[in-house]
Amino acid sequence: MLFTIIGVGVFAYGIIYTILVCLADCDLQLAFFERFGKKIRNLKGKVVFITGASSGIGEGTALALAKNGVKLVLAARRLAELERVKQKCLEISNGLLTSEDVLILQMDMLDIKSHQKYFDLAVQHFGNVDILFNNAGRSQRATWENIELDIHKQLFELNVFSVVNLTSIAVRYFNSKGSGHVAVTSSLAGVVGVPFSGSYTGSKHAIHGFFNSLRTEKTGKNLTVSIICPGPVFTNFLSESFTETVGKKYGISAKPTDRRLTMERCGELCAITLANQLDESWMALFPLIPFTYTAVYFPLIFKTTLKIVGVNTLFKLRDSSDIQLMTEAKKN
Ligand SMILES: NC(=O)c1ccc[n+]([C@@H]2O[C@H](COP(=O)([O-])OP(=O)(O)OC[C@H]3O[C@@H](n4cnc5c(N)ncnc54)[C@H](OP(=O)(O)O)[C@@H]3O)[C@@H](O)[C@H]2O)c1
Ligand SMILES: *[C@@H]1O[C@H](CO)[C@@H](O)[C@H](O)[C@H]1NC(C)=O
Ligand SMILES: *[C@@H]1O[C@H](CO)[C@@H](O)[C@H](O)[C@H]1NC(C)=O
Repeated sequence: MLFTIIGVGVFAYGIIYTILVCLADCDLQLAFFERFGKKIRNLKGKVVFITGASSGIGEGTALALAKNGVKLVLAARRLAELERVKQKCLEISNGLLTSEDVLILQMDMLDIKSHQKYFDLAVQHFGNVDILFNNAGRSQRATWENIELDIHKQLFELNVFSVVNLTSIAVRYFNSKGSGHVAVTSSLAGVVGVPFSGSYTGSKHAIHGFFNSLRTEKTGKNLTVSIICPGPVFTNFLSESFTETVGKKYGISAKPTDRRLTMERCGELCAITLANQLDESWMALFPLIPFTYTAVYFPLIFKTTLKIVGVNTLFKLRDSSDIQLMTEAKKN
C-alpha cells in the first residue's frame, strides 16, 4: 500500500514536471522565481554595468531594469546605438531615471588594457557598482573540421578572455566592498553541444567553467555568480556570427517569421535572474527547454532522439532554417 502511494506520487510528479517544462519559456527554477520570487523593482536604485548594451539581449535587459528604476552603465562600441538605448531607457523609466542615472561607455571589449579605466569611470560616476552583467559576444556558424585556428582564438578572445579580464576587475572591487554580483550571458550552447558552432560552443562551455569555479571559490564571501543561457532570440546575433574563415561574417539575418524569444522577453528573464541572484537560468521557446532538460538529465534518450530526428531538425530549431542555408551562405 505504502509503495503504491509512493509510486503514484513519483509518477504524478514526473507528469506534472514534464507538463510544466513544456509550457514554460524558461527553466522551472526561473519560472518559479518569476511568479513567487523577488520582483525586478527590488533592484531599484542599484547600479548595473551591462556590456553589449547597444542591441539585442543587453538592450532588452537594460529596458527591463530601467523600467524599474535601476541605474545603468551601458557599454559597447557603437556610440549612436548606445545613445538610442539610453533614450529608450529614460522613456520607459517613466521619470524614475534622469540622464545622470544612465552612463554610456564607448568601450571595445577586445581592448583589454582599457577595462580598468572604464570600470573605474563607472565607479567614479555612481560612487558604486552593484552588478556586472557581461553580455557582449558573438556567435558562429561553421563546419567543425574546417574552422581555422585563428577563429577559435578570436572567438575565445571576445567571448571568454575579455569577459574573464573585466570580471577579475569587478571581483577585486567587490572584494574590497564586501559584496557583489557578476553575471554573464552564456547560451544553451554552454549547456549542450550544439552543432555547427564548434568554437562558440567551446567558448560558452569555458564560461561555465570559469564562472562555476569562481562561485565555488567565493562561497561564504557574498559574491553572487549568475550564468544566463538563452536559446534563439531576435537580435543582430546571427548575421554578426563568425564563420569558419577569418574576416568573414555569416551575414544571414533572423527573419520575423523565425521561432525566437523577443529581446524584450529575454531581457525581462535576465533581469529576474539578476533580481533573484540565481546561479543559472535557461530561456527559450518550446521545445528547446524540454530538449535541454533531456540532454542534461537523460543523455541516452537525447542521443537516441537525435539519431531518429536528425541533426537538421536541431539546426532548424535553432535557426528556423535548414542546414542547406548555411552551406549556400558559405559559398558567397
Ligand atoms: N541572440 C541569440 O539567439 C543568443 C542566444 C544565446 C546566447 N546569446 C548571447 O547573447 C549575448 C548578446 O548577443 P545578442 O544576441 O544580443 O546579439 P547582438 O544584438 O549582436 O549584441 C551583441 C552585443 O555585443 C556587443 N559587442 C560585440 N563585439 C563587441 C566588442 N568587441 N566590444 C564591445 N562590445 C561588443 C555589440 O555592441 P557593438 O557592436 O556596439 O560593440 C552588441 O551590443 C552574446 O554573448 C551571445 O553569445 C545570444
Ligand atoms: C586585464 O588585462 C590587462 C591587459 O593585459 C592587464 O593589464 C590587467 O591586469 C588585466 N586585469 C586583471 C584584473 O587581471
Ligand atoms: C556580507 O554582506 C553583509 C551585508 O552586506 C555584511 O554584513 C557581511 O559582513 C558580509 N560578509 C562578508 C564575509 O564579507
